[in-house]
This record gives sequence, structure tokens and C-alpha cells, in this order.
Amino acid sequence: MRKAVIAGNWKMHKTNGEARLLARAIKAGSAGVSHCEVVMAPPFTALAAVAEELKGTPLILAAQNVHWEAKGAFTGEISIPMLKDVGCGMVVIGHSERRQYFGETDASVNRRVRAVLESSLKPIICIGETLAERESGNHHSVVAQQLAGGLDSLTRRDLLRIILAYEPVWAIGTGRTASPETAQEMHGMIREWLSGRFGEEAQTVRILYGGSVKPDNIDALMLQPDIDGALVGGACLEAESFLRIIHYRL
Ligand code: PGA
Repeated sequence: MRKAVIAGNWKMHKTNGEARLLARAIKAGSAGVSHCEVVMAPPFTALAAVAEELKGTPLILAAQNVHWEAKGAFTGEISIPMLKDVGCGMVVIGHSERRQYFGETDASVNRRVRAVLESSLKPIICIGETLAERESGNHHSVVAQQLAGGLDSLTRRDLLRIILAYEPVWAIGTGRTASPETAQEMHGMIREWLSGRFGEEAQTVRILYGGSVKPDNIDALMLQPDIDGALVGGACLEAESFLRIIHYRL
């Protein structure tokens, strides 16, 4: 009942020319795919170029961040109307790299999420613990705190529009993916938390796993009952590996 989502987070990679080539190859290789939603999140500068390539396809364009104000004196920021104008359907919010390097907090994540929910865009909200937090046994409480802060004042109806991405920081870009069992344990905990806070709408929320998702581990991850897709970094930068992930086998 939850349609899977395979999303590629391009991070700070690809010029416009490179972005077009990659988008074109993914479009070609995913034609006819209906078992999952395919999402691409190129850098801001490549959104327009990728939007052109994706026109007329079911592929979804996403941005990697967004500001909560619609316009104003916010040098360097990008607004929701701008993302809609360029053709985005989704936006990644609170990625751990934004939390780690750019001062993103649960409170600022929440401001972005609430603004996005007032638009037609869907937020992909990232959460996940660091290695130190896991090793000290605090991973559940850290993730619960990120959920409480990031989803503060959301309604049960809002829940129908959000996508979550559980991305343990220790697995991002390290090649050290969480085992399917470890990931499932966290996804189960997240869904339980949602269920306690919002009720049965929790069953509709897609919870993606992120952190060193590769062609050789996607199948086992997707077999887990509470893993509803993947947010892919490194392996989405080449068409061949991202396409293999899109075409995961159960
Ligand atoms: P990775 O990145 O697949 O390169 O680990 C995932 C992410 O940061 O979304």
C-alpha cells in the first residue's frame, strides 16, 4: 500500500551538461517503471536543465533544500515558489550534511517542513544518528527527538504528504551501510513513534533508508517490511548503478 520511492541525492555534483546526460540516461533506463517513484535531486543550478529532460515523464524533480520564506532579503537562499516554478515536486529537508556543516537544527527543519506543507511540494525529511550517538546507545532517543522537533505541530493530514529518510550518519558516504536488520529495526521504531503521535496515518508514510545504498545491497534492504525506498548519494551519480537500484529485485 506504500509505493516505494527511489531518490537520488546528487549533492554538489554535476554541471548542467553532465546533469542533462545523467538525467537522459536515467530517463531512458527507467521508462515504463511503475513499481516505484523515481526522484532526482540535482543541485539548484541544474534543476532547470534536468526539468527539461524529465518533461512528460513520471520522474520527479526534487531540490536539496529550501527556505521557509516565499521571498525577501535572504541572500543565497531559494524559495518554494522558485522550486515550483522550475518544476520540482519534492524537496529534501534536514539532510545530515546540512545539519553537520550548515547549522541546520530540528527547529529550522520544522520551519522548512511547515512551509513546504503549505505548498504542493512534498518534503523528504532526513533524520539519523551519528556514530557516537549509536555507540553510546542513544540512537533511539536521538531519532525520536529529531522526529518530535522536525514534525512539531504537524497534523494527521500533513502526515499523508511527508516522506521520511532514515540516514545513519555513520553510513553516509562511508561504504558502511546499515545491515537490513539494523535499518529495519530503526524503521520499525520510527513507524511506531509516528503511530503513537499521529495514529494510523503512520502506516501511509514512506520511510526511505539512506547511507551507502548500492546495487549490491538494495535488494536485501527493500525486502524489509518498513523500508519503503532509498535515498541514494554516491551510487546515483552514474546511470548504471542508479538504474540497478531503481530496478531492485525482491
Ligand atoms: P551515500 O549518501 O549513498 O553516498 O552514502 C546518501 C545520502 O547522503 O543521502
